[in-house]
Amino acid sequence: MKTYKVVLVGYGPRGKIWSKILKKNKNVKLVAICDINLKTKNKDSKKIPFYLKIENAIFENNPDFIVLSTPPASRMKDLKVCAKYKLPVLVEKPLAVNINEAKKLVRFMNRNKLLMMVGLNFRYLPSTIEKIKLIKLNKVGKPNFARFVYERWRDGKLMRLNKYPLLMDQPMLWEQSIHHFDLIRYVYNSEIKSVYATTSNPPWSMYKDDTNVNAILELKNKIIINYVGNWQSNSKSLNFEWRTDCENGIIIQKKQFEDLYYRHFKSKVEKKIKLKKIKMWFDDANLLLNDFLDSLRKKKDIYKINSDHLKSLAVVDACIKSSKTGKKVRILS
Ligand SMILES: NC(=O)c1ccc[n+]([C@@H]2O[C@H](COP(=O)([O-])OP(=O)(O)OC[C@H]3O[C@@H](n4cnc5c(N)ncnc54)[C@H](O)[C@@H]3O)[C@@H](O)[C@H]2O)c1
Repeated sequence: MKTYKVVLVGYGPRGKIWSKILKKNKNVKLVAICDINLKTKNKDSKKIPFYLKIENAIFENNPDFIVLSTPPASRMKDLKVCAKYKLPVLVEKPLAVNINEAKKLVRFMNRNKLLMMVGLNFRYLPSTIEKIKLIKLNKVGKPNFARFVYERWRDGKLMRLNKYPLLMDQPMLWEQSIHHFDLIRYVYNSEIKSVYATTSNPPWSMYKDDTNVNAILELKNKIIINYVGNWQSNSKSLNFEWRTDCENGIIIQKKQFEDLYYRHFKSKVEKKIKLKKIKMWFDDANLLLNDFLDSLRKKKDIYKINSDHLKSLAVVDACIKSSKTGKKVRILS
């Protein structure tokens, strides 16, 4: 099987994880790393050519694709260079922090007939895979409504975390809820039809803009979801619960990446689902990478893959509009 040469662009905390994944995956060869900040170089990047400019990294190493792990504020410049060299891109979430900009990026890559997959690694978690199986196997019947709770005190000043969310607009929605909205669409296999949301920022928040999201999401297949997501809850331990009420019982996930159960209406006990053990942030992203390579080989569904993420970004956009206007917002498909 072909070994794909890859250039990693953006060597911040996430890029450093990507470099480990790319070095380990036998189907790819990490040929160069690029970051505009030379200080990001570390011992792990010692043996790999390091560049400050994406075009130099591409020109001198002739890769087959790019992993773009830069912040989401302005990706067009880099995509233009990728397109010049006809390179497909695996790009980190969120694609952009503005829905119109995201549409422009997708149109641009489509015009160039280049694959651009967005890195939604949570799709590859065992808890996600097994939840989808429970629904497909009809274990407790058809889902009808759900509650998704993610309450976290995220220390935005931690060394190992990116700093731009401290100052950006709607950091929770663009950076975190985007994962959750994508999971909701993916697990329930339905698009989100309408949103009623409020966003807010508690007085003790270290973030400039809103870290609290409360939303009611209506799916096209009629499932209704109560979503609570925040980054400045006032407890240092993360509280996660994703419960789905179905025709004959419930499916409940009690921890962010594990503890998945189902329970029949008449049963007194929850049945725990055995989940495959994984190395979080690595194994999930490695599966995503394999999926990307598979799409590269098959060369099909490019336009579908490229535009998929827009549907999750549209939910973020609708939450912002709903919070501003106080009205329920319909998402046009
Ligand atoms: N999928 C996940 O689970 C996950 C987890 C963390 C971060 N992310 C995403 O990954 C992306 C990067 O996150 P991070 O935490 O590493 O951010 P960061 O801001 O800490 O690091 C980004 C790095 O990219 C470099 N950079 C910026 N513009 C560049 C350019 N044009 N060319 C080359 N280098 C450039 C910066 O110098 C910096 O070193 C973000 O979109 C973030 O949302 C995803």
